[in-house]
Amino acid sequence: MLTTETRDRLIEAALAARQWAYVPYSSYAVGAALLTASGRIYEGMNIENAAYPMTICAERVAVFKAISEGERQFQAIAVVTSNGGSPCGACRQVLAEFGLDTVVLIADGEGHLVWETSVAELLPGAFTPSDLDK
Ligand code: THU
Repeated sequence: MLTTETRDRLIEAALAARQWAYVPYSSYAVGAALLTASGRIYEGMNIENAAYPMTICAERVAVFKAISEGERQFQAIAVVTSNGGSPCGACRQVLAEFGLDTVVLIADGEGHLVWETSVAELLPGAFTPSDLDK
């Protein structure tokens, strides 16, 4: 369970990160802030490309930054968009790799929380590392 303070801090970080989104094609800026088990926060924002499929989502930028610094366990991720849009399927899968219990905070452009959920709820029946042992 996240404290109100942690929730607010993560949403604030995602809002701040969103200003760095590189979105010349969609104009749909997304900011993310990922809280690791160690207590660090990694920010991410979407980065688009003239070759459209090369675009990377804000959530995956945050996850990959954390993983590249040796982090493996996450507590929560906040995702901010203008309209409270929810994480795409690819990002759900990437988050699922590192735990189904990660809390997902979805907020709008004013920082209002529109949905507090979890990776498990966003990706029922997820394919996870344990499936490879079967
Ligand atoms: N986008 C994200 O950053 N995260 C998501 O989970 C959904 C989509 C980005 C990708 C693209 O730059 C823009 O939003 C419109 O799809």
